[in-house]
Amino acid sequence: MKIGILTSGGDCAGLNAVLRAIVRKADTYNYETVGILNGWKGLFDEDYIHLGLDEVSGIIHRGGTIIGTSRFSPFEQKHGKKILIEKIYKADFDAIICIGGEGSMHVAQLAYEAGVHVIGIPKTIDNDIYGTDYTFGFDTAVGIATEAVDRLHTTAESHHRVMILEVMGRNAGWIAVYSAIAGGADVVLIPERKYKMDEIVDVIKNRYTRGKWFSIIVVAEGAKVDDGDIKFAHPELKGKKKLDDFGRERLGGICHLLADEIEYRSGFETRATILGYVQRGGMPSSFDRILGTRFGVYAVEMIKKKKFGRMCAIVSNDITDITIKKAISKLKTVDPKIYKVAQVFFK
Ligand code: F6P
Repeated sequence: MKIGILTSGGDCAGLNAVLRAIVRKADTYNYETVGILNGWKGLFDEDYIHLGLDEVSGIIHRGGTIIGTSRFSPFEQKHGKKILIEKIYKADFDAIICIGGEGSMHVAQLAYEAGVHVIGIPKTIDNDIYGTDYTFGFDTAVGIATEAVDRLHTTAESHHRVMILEVMGRNAGWIAVYSAIAGGADVVLIPERKYKMDEIVDVIKNRYTRGKWFSIIVVAEGAKVDDGDIKFAHPELKGKKKLDDFGRERLGGICHLLADEIEYRSGFETRATILGYVQRGGMPSSFDRILGTRFGVYAVEMIKKKKFGRMCAIVSNDITDITIKKAISKLKTVDPKIYKVAQVFFK
């Protein structure tokens, strides 16, 4: 059995823990493991490395991915499907493990439909993949965002300012809600809901009347604030929309638009911080290392049982699997019950 392993899409903490677990478990069955470099692109470029016990030694605590990543989709290339099949045949891969987020799982499903023996492992800091309670990378990102909220708290309090922290979250505000609850933020804005500027400004003004001379707002990059003419769905970048390789608009910058508007409407000094890629980098938390390890071990068992076209998942702390088709059927957005908990503190 020869397994090709690739990491695809935005990186996150815990990818190396998964790679290590796959290789270690595969070794117990004498399966050969090969790293396909830089996501699906590595197949097209025939860019492979041997991934053996030595290559994955000492990497569980390291951020990023030792085999590189990209947002390359074979199916967006000319004769892509044909080339993909040819390359897999040439490399003699019996199975491919695709470790990726929602965009990468769409590619994995197309590959499966084209006849590839593919297994999915869900990763993303956004925690928005349907069918799994958690994706690895999320817990680490929440830890980093919570620390940022803590740090902004002390400077906000000292300067009597409104501080806005922008975190990642294109279609789902999981990082925003979790870090807002954990850090004790006063307002959290997520893509799943629409906000009016006045309701945000009212919370801040209210706090000032109670003698709270500072406020903390956490906003997900994909949040939408509509108010008459003001649409904050994304910064317009003078009409130019920048796209990533999966054709999705690049986000980032809503916090600056919000800061200007809040300062103008409330009269309170307001500053903005984009946390950005710090959320994706560095050491994985122990939760993400353990989840990644459990997924990696389970994925090899799935190959042994020929459970192709399926993605592993964690449900009620059990590792299980669902079809990739089902996993990409919708996004897992923020649970309203959790958002309600955060709302208790919007005062
Ligand atoms: O990993 C997913 C994600 O974090 C999204 O929330 C964000 O929009 C995107 O990655 C940004 O990644 P990049 O700048 O690498 O395209």
